[in-house]
Parts: sequence; C-alpha cells; structure tokens
Amino acid sequence: MSEFEPKIVAFCCNFCAFAAADLAGAMRLQYSPSVRIIRLPCTGKVDAIHLMKAFEEGADGVFVAGCLEGQCHFLEGNTRAKKRVDYVKRLLVEVEIEPERVEMFNLSAAMGGRFAEIVEEMTEKVKKLGPTYIGKQKEPVKT
Ligand code: FES
Repeated sequence: MSEFEPKIVAFCCNFCAFAAADLAGAMRLQYSPSVRIIRLPCTGKVDAIHLMKAFEEGADGVFVAGCLEGQCHFLEGNTRAKKRVDYVKRLLVEVEIEPERVEMFNLSAAMGGRFAEIVEEMTEKVKKLGPTYIGKQKEPVKT
C-alpha cells in the first residue's frame, strides 16, 4: 500500500514567501513536492472562501505565507490574512475537521530555508492527520 501523500496549497505573497520559495529553489533546497503555490500580490488579498475552496478542491492542508509582521507592503494585509486564517480554523472546528490543517506564516524574501522548513512541517503534520473528506465525495448523494 502506498503512503499517503498530502496535497498542500500555499497562498504566498509575491514580495516575501513567493520570493523565498524561489530562493529555496535557487539554493537547491529539498522540500516536499506536495505543495502547490498560489502567488498573491499580498496575503491581504486572500479571503476565507479561497481557503475553504482549496479544501473543497482536494487540499489536505492549506497555508498562507505573508511578509514579516509590520513589513507588509500594503500595511495590514498580513494581519488581515491572519484573522481570516483564524476564522477558517473556527469554521473547520465546526465541521469537525482539525483546525491545524490551515496555518499562517510570516517570512521575508531572504528566508528560503525557512520556506522549505514550513513546507516540510506542514507536510509532516498533515500526513499524521491523514486525508480530509472535504471535496473527496464528488458523486451526488442519492435520496
Ligand atoms: Fe506581503 Fe502584504 S505585501 S503580506
């Protein structure tokens, strides 16, 4: 039996996390291929519906990675994103899904190593939790 390989969706700010992911690649750092990166102009652009939609489309874990606190290019985008991640955690609890499947991280463009660590941390955590059932049932429910 093959080992469960989680699907992780990462919403990354163009100025920091996306650049850090790029740097990790340039540094030839190894990290799990389970991550799919969505590039954003700022994490303030991400809304709760985007995070929930990622789960609905089959993600087993989702994270948002924005600029360091106080360094968002749009002033408060990363603090707003943090609040939305916290809101989605509460929504997940309500539908009996582990809230730790969604997380917020802050990093700078120079933190390529940290980006690789984050991907590994999320992948290992979600592997332990196992797959979600959200979005996996595509068949219509018979009544
Ligand atoms: Fe990076 Fe806002 S510009 S989180």
